[in-house]
Amino acid sequence: MPYVNAKEMLADAKRNHYAVGHFNLNNMESVRAFLLAAEEQRSPIILGVSGGTAKYMGGYKTIADMVRDFMDFLKITVPVCTHVDHGTYEEAMAAIDGGFSSVMFDGSKYPIEENIAKTREVVRRAHEKGITVEAEVGAIGGEEDGRIAMGECADPEQCERIASLGIDFLAAGIGNIHGKYPANWPGLRFDVLEAIQKKTGDLPLVLHGGSGIPDEMVRQAITLGVSKVNVNTECQIAFTEATRAFIEAGKDREGRGFTPRALLAPGLEATKAKCIEKMTLFGSIGKA
Ligand code: 13P
Repeated sequence: MPYVNAKEMLADAKRNHYAVGHFNLNNMESVRAFLLAAEEQRSPIILGVSGGTAKYMGGYKTIADMVRDFMDFLKITVPVCTHVDHGTYEEAMAAIDGGFSSVMFDGSKYPIEENIAKTREVVRRAHEKGITVEAEVGAIGGEEDGRIAMGECADPEQCERIASLGIDFLAAGIGNIHGKYPANWPGLRFDVLEAIQKKTGDLPLVLHGGSGIPDEMVRQAITLGVSKVNVNTECQIAFTEATRAFIEAGKDREGRGFTPRALLAPGLEATKAKCIEKMTLFGSIGKA
């Protein structure tokens, strides 16, 4: 069964100048939507799980088992990776024990020496089990308490130090933000990305906050060494808009439209369509 870590898929993406999409799970419908999109389009895929989603969906073991069982049930033949998104040290360890194939440890909020020490330990524990590791330098901005923080830019020297710990891929802040971008957002810092790429060589780089970045900027980031792009908000909005349209059209009051499966079916289809749109942009279609 093609339940894999992210090593090979990202090495191939880096070599061949495309990116693999990391799509965040939010519920059972998203598991189904992303697996079907990947299989239909012959694309590798990374399924990201935040700490909040892990709690909501029953913990890392439940999710890993569910993904594998769904893959079996849907006869998925393309490579699929389960990956912790912005994990704390404890979350990364729990996912390693729970059967995930890849983890992100986000130590960007710590002083660099502490980030290095914790990342080193996560790498040691993960690699013992063949699990890949993403580390982060330079906090990604985003909305917190109603305020949008601009994304930090990672220090290329610090990126080089973290890269030397044997991590498998690196999230480096280049002015990107999670969630919606504010109207006055100045755009991605390609100069910083180039400097990081020079210091980290073949290491695949990760672009977080993939929702709402203009397509041209995403393409340029991929040209400059980004091999994984994370998307959550745009898929969430697609799901919710489709559900709203279903209810506003009164379809929940027609026939058996009231059943939860009928209510959530348009959202599932919209999530799948958004996922395919992003895979097309990232160039991963037909690569599996
Ligand atoms: P968006 O929600 O902005 O797409 O970001 C997703 C992400 O980076 C998850 O780590």
